[in-house]
Amino acid sequence: MPSADAAAAARVDLADLGLDEGGHLLLDRALAGLAPGRRLTVTGRHPALPIHLGAWCRSHGHRLIAGQPAADPSLAAGALVVEKGGSGERRWTGAARAGSAAGPPDARADARWGLAARGALVEAGGPPIGAQWSEREHVWADIAPKLYAAAAAAQWDPATAVDWAAPIDAVPPEIERAIVQIMTYLVENEQAALIIPARLLSQLHPHYREVMQLLATQAADEARHVEVFTRRGLLSGGLLGTSSAGGRASLATLLNEPDFTTASFLLSVLGEGTFVDLLRFLHDHAPDQVTADVTRLAVRDEARHVAFGVAHTAHLAGSDPGYLGTLRRSVERRHAALQDTAGLNAEVFDSLVLLAAGSWAPAAIRRGWQAVRDLQARMDEGRRRRLAAIGFPDDEAAELSALHTRNFM
Ligand SMILES: [Fe+2]
Ligand SMILES: [Fe+2]
Repeated sequence: MPSADAAAAARVDLADLGLDEGGHLLLDRALAGLAPGRRLTVTGRHPALPIHLGAWCRSHGHRLIAGQPAADPSLAAGALVVEKGGSGERRWTGAARAGSAAGPPDARADARWGLAARGALVEAGGPPIGAQWSEREHVWADIAPKLYAAAAAAQWDPATAVDWAAPIDAVPPEIERAIVQIMTYLVENEQAALIIPARLLSQLHPHYREVMQLLATQAADEARHVEVFTRRGLLSGGLLGTSSAGGRASLATLLNEPDFTTASFLLSVLGEGTFVDLLRFLHDHAPDQVTADVTRLAVRDEARHVAFGVAHTAHLAGSDPGYLGTLRRSVERRHAALQDTAGLNAEVFDSLVLLAAGSWAPAAIRRGWQAVRDLQARMDEGRRRRLAAIGFPDDEAAELSALHTRNFM
């Protein structure tokens, strides 16, 4: 028999609250402290309480006993008594925590955690998540939470961050055509750069929450880049430029890269790393404010994408030095697949020269040509530096940098 205290505690008064308006919260709260088999006396004035309570008990595995409980003569005849069932407790047997909410993510994320929040108590039996990447080493970088916070704080609005009304009339028509060609090329590269993190994100176990969030901001960044480069390309009211088969073939090899880390390496370390130099070049040679604005805004975002790619790849290579061989083979494979393609759209290359030249004067073209050669040297130097940061010896870094696609991305 329960003690006098327990018997006194095992009562709940719903007053005029019905079970169809939240009364079950009071019942659950009162039953929570009782062991299965113990009884709870329920009082209340709602006219449908006896009927609703019977239905509620059946659906929740408890038993409704009508009548005055012998243990408590103070209650009126017909008081309702609920005997607690055991199914509520059984529901949580076999439940496990999905790692720790406050701590770092687990080395391996259980598919059975599904979409549960990291650190949640997970009821057994739900649908497993079909994520392809469930191991920390294959997706993680310690800098990911910081980079996500920086990315969230640095989101900009294309409508207001760029002064779209700034004049472009002073740009000579042929330079404007070069800008339009470059913008056309940038858009297709940005589209690839959007699809890849979105694809990685869709196959990532959500236990690695910060990486998931970071990839989402990365995709959002690329969506803005697609927008502003398209808008700049159309600003002079003409048609967009050309898209070469070789350029698209180069991007297709990125889209087809199946592994998280090699995809991140080829896209972010080598491709976006190279693009950072390209965007800075475009910013420095921009003949108008809008071109200067869109390239300045994009390069800020790209720096974060590159930082994650380098940090993640270095993280994995640090824990598994043999992985450098896998990365090396991914570069060689891509190079071999593209050997018979032109790589960069020739019209893009010529547009870069003309943009840097600023005019058709032979001496200006020579300067433009040299500026693009200098750009390519800076790109190569940047790639070698990033490859060295991941762990490649200098000679191997130089070799791999030279195998990078002519398309830059
Ligand atoms: Fe981008
Ligand atoms: Fe990017």
